[in-house]
Order: sequence, then C-alpha cells, then structure tokens
Amino acid sequence: MKTAFITGATVNTGFGIAEKFLSEGWRAVITSRKEEQLTEALRTLGEKYGKENVSGYVTDVVRADNTIDEDYLDFIFDDLDKKGITVDCLVLNAANLGIRQRIFENSLSDFINVINTNVVMNYALIERAALRMKEKGEGSIVFINSNTAYRAIPDRIAYSTSKSAQLGMMRALALDLGKYNIRVNAVLPGMIKTDRWQNNYNDCRNALSNYTPLGDIAEFADIADAVWYFAAHARNTTGAELVVDGGNMIQLYPIVP
Ligand SMILES: NC(=O)c1ccc[n+]([C@@H]2O[C@H](COP(=O)([O-])OP(=O)(O)OC[C@H]3O[C@@H](n4cnc5c(N)ncnc54)[C@H](OP(=O)(O)O)[C@@H]3O)[C@@H](O)[C@H]2O)c1
Repeated sequence: MKTAFITGATVNTGFGIAEKFLSEGWRAVITSRKEEQLTEALRTLGEKYGKENVSGYVTDVVRADNTIDEDYLDFIFDDLDKKGITVDCLVLNAANLGIRQRIFENSLSDFINVINTNVVMNYALIERAALRMKEKGEGSIVFINSNTAYRAIPDRIAYSTSKSAQLGMMRALALDLGKYNIRVNAVLPGMIKTDRWQNNYNDCRNALSNYTPLGDIAEFADIADAVWYFAAHARNTTGAELVVDGGNMIQLYPIVP
C-alpha cells in the first residue's frame, strides 16, 4: 500500500487531499498543530476509509521563537520507519497565510514565521522524506503553492514571498533529486471554497479573485485531483506548476458581471 504524508490536513484543502488519496486506496498520514482537531479528523477519515489506513502526528515545528523543532521531525520519520511506512508522496499543504501583515505594522518575527513555516519547515520535511524515497528508488513531492507566487494581493508580502520562494525551491529540488527518481511539482490554487470563504472571513467572498473566466473558484476536490495527477500519473513530469484557479491568473483584470 502506498502512503501520502499531508501536512495541515485536518480541515479544508489538506483534508480534501487526504480523502482523495484514501479513496484511491492509499494510506494517509496527516499532521496538525492541534491535538483535538487531529483526533477528530482521524476519527472521521477512519470511519470512512478504515482506521488502519490513516494516522497522524501533532506537530508544531516552527516554535514561537522561530526556531525549527528538527528533533520532532526526526521522531516522526523514525516512527514511520519503525512501522515500516515509507512516504511515497509528500504533500506540503500547511501554510502560515500571513493575513493582514503590513510592512509598517508587523514585526520582523511575523515575517520570519511565515518564511519559516512555508519554506524552511517544508525543506526540513523534504530532507527527511526524500532520504527514504532515495532508498526506495522513487517518490513524489507536491507543494500546495498559490497563484500569489506570481500575482500580489494586498497586505500579504511575507506570504507572496514564501510562495515565490517555494517555486524556486521546487525547481532546485527537482533538479537535484531527479536522478533518484524523485519528482517535485507544485499545484497553484487561486481562491478555494474553504470554511473561511464559506463564512466570508476577511470579506473574501467579495474579493475580485472570485471572478474567474470559468465563473467559479476551486473546490477541495479540484486541488486534490491536481495533486493526485502529480502523485500517481505524472511519471515524466518534474519541476512543473499546475495552476488550478479557474483561469484567474491569465486575466489582465477580472470581468465583473
Ligand atoms: N484558501 C485559499 O483560497 C488558497 C489559495 C491559494 C493557495 N492556498 C494554499 O493552499 C494550502 C491550503 O490552504 P487552506 O486555505 O486549505 O489552508 P488552511 O485552512 O489555512 O489550512 C492549512 C493548514 O495549515 C496549518 N497552519 C496554518 N498556520 C500554520 C502555522 N503558522 N504553522 C504551521 N501550520 C500552520 C493549519 O493546520 P493546523 O491548524 O491543524 O496545525 C491549517 O489547517 C495552503 O498552502 C495555502 O497557502 C490556499
């Protein structure tokens, strides 16, 4: 049985990605910083797809002082080794969204936390997963990136910076890990119908990014399908970006009906 390791997967897109892999007969290992939320997600997924197929870890890898808890990452991968589980696909979904971080108002440590969560933590996870994939002779790593890697939105400097940095890291890793048959790719969502979107957090239902050429924004399944393509089908694809944003990014400006 193949295994997908998905970060930040108790709610929203990450949960949808876990469901996709489980429904395709894979095992899912998920992470969260919140124990209660993790227990609840494992219970829901276990009831639907079999308790034995899903497990998880409570992780708070980027500490409050912005250092990275590498010991805990070592513990996770050693624990998986002991259980005989190798990660076939690592999905880097968790992100500090850095919402309303403003240049003259936020501290430098707020900026660093976004970079450490979205870039450094992912690099530390990849180091450990890729070492095992190398031994196995294959593997797939998928970043859940964002179209904000290319197009800026207000008050999200750290977030945009982190998503652009992920793409640079994705290409460099694809180059260095290709010889081990490890593929590294990125899915670039636009607006997604998360609980924040449903509840109109930050007035996001009125944001202009809702107006796409296809007339709709992404469901979790749209993002999960793109991840699944990279994980299960894209044998000869690495260093690639798959935009899933209803065509949002190709517009010079959104057409508001
Ligand atoms: N929502 C959108 O419209 C949109 C658009 C473009 C790209 N994306 C990307 O798609 C991915 C999923 O987005 P989403 O909206 O579904 O995410 P989400 O609801 O914010 O969930 C992502 C998970 O990341 C974890 N997380 C949040 N802040 C963190 C922090 N400071 N440190 C460590 N983990 C943290 C959380 O897990 P725990 O709380 O359980 O630890 C959270 O559940 C992200 O990479 C995001 O950048 C989203």
